Amino acid sequence: MGFTEKREFLVNSSWESFKQNLPGYSVLFYTIILEKAPAAKGMFSFLKNMPEVKDSPQLQAHAEKVFQMVRDAAVQLRATGEVVLGYTKVGAIHIQRGVVDPHFVVVKEALLKTIKEASGDNWSEELNTAWEIAYDELAISIKKAVKLGM
Ligand code: HEM
Repeated sequence: MGFTEKREFLVNSSWESFKQNLPGYSVLFYTIILEKAPAAKGMFSFLKNMPEVKDSPQLQAHAEKVFQMVRDAAVQLRATGEVVLGYTKVGAIHIQRGVVDPHFVVVKEALLKTIKEASGDNWSEELNTAWEIAYDELAISIKKAVKLGM
């Protein structure tokens, strides 16, 4: 099954729910990441010197960007069947911070849990799968950019 209109709809509508409480869900997202990968704390400029995950403009901006890029990936998959990175230097920043493949698994789990929380009663396995596919395809593009140093 390709990336259907239904999948795009599920991603879009839960992304809207995520945006309704950006500060809260951004904190939740990073809290889950650090639970699973405590050492990742030092990688993020906005977490590095903080005793705990607290809301900040940079924290929100970055979380919003990650979720937004996954949503864009869903839109692209529905329209063209592939994901093309619109953001340049994304490979370079991740190399510079020492991001490796296992980190993508941690971020994926945190993203799916955050979306589950944000979508409440509207959550379903189908919704989860739609986010998972969009994230996986986007992660492949980013990892390629990391390999090429772009
Ligand atoms: C920076 C997106 C996965 C760690 C960035 C930036 C973007 C981005 C767009 C640049 C931000 C900016 O210019 O403000 C993504 C997306 C991901 C992903 C869409 C997954 C699909 C990861 C993973 C890690 C990671 C798995 C490691 C845990 C970082 C760090 C920065 C960064 C440390 C620099 C943040 C800072 O200190 O300002 N990411 N990223 N990213 N990303 Fe990712």
